[in-house]
Amino acid sequence: MNNFERVTLIEHPVIARDITILRDINTQTDDFRVALKRIAVILAYHALKELPLITFPIETPIRETTGYDIDQDIIVVPILRAGLGLSDALLQFIPNAKVGHLGMYRDEQTHQPVDYYSNIPEGIEQAMVLVVDPMLATGGSADDALSYLKKEGAQHLRFISLISAPEGLHTLDENHPDVHTITAAIDEKLNDDAFIVPGLGDAGDRYFGTT
Ligand code: PRP
Repeated sequence: MNNFERVTLIEHPVIARDITILRDINTQTDDFRVALKRIAVILAYHALKELPLITFPIETPIRETTGYDIDQDIIVVPILRAGLGLSDALLQFIPNAKVGHLGMYRDEQTHQPVDYYSNIPEGIEQAMVLVVDPMLATGGSADDALSYLKKEGAQHLRFISLISAPEGLHTLDENHPDVHTITAAIDEKLNDDAFIVPGLGDAGDRYFGTT
């Protein structure tokens, strides 16, 4: 349960253990990647929960029965760089999903997102578009990404984040009431540098081993 109507907070013992690994300042890149990928699988599983199905008859070795397939095109859009750590988990479940990329970084002084790359596949109008980024801080990057994708024609959007600040969730609530967010943690607040508290630091740097 949480105070945001359009937010699903996934609670699971494996997530609690793995978020602790991610938060820990002493966790090195290898363990950070492994823990992030494990959480990503759980988030992906939940994000795909309400996909429509088509049914068709199939033959088992014993008799005929009903078969199912997913009846929805899917486009995964990681927000670079850190979003790349979450996208593989979705592709494991939906191997034929298309992948778009949005490059943006947050200016250290203004905390505003700066766009530097975009590559969005065709078919965005009909597809379920899953935007992934491990961190939702001020919400500026996610807000920008969702607005851009809507301008490109996206109509069915979801946002998947690992750790969200209440400030970012409020921003999405106000600007994108049609977008459901799936997250593994809602933290306390942002600090003066707009970092999530307690958070885990800079997810991109920790995942890619940069500083
Ligand atoms: C981080 C994070 C989000 C953004 C969140 O990216 O991965 O994209 O900041 O902040 P916001 O909600 O206040 O916009 P960063 O700028 O560190 O880029 P990186 O992924 O390349 O490290």
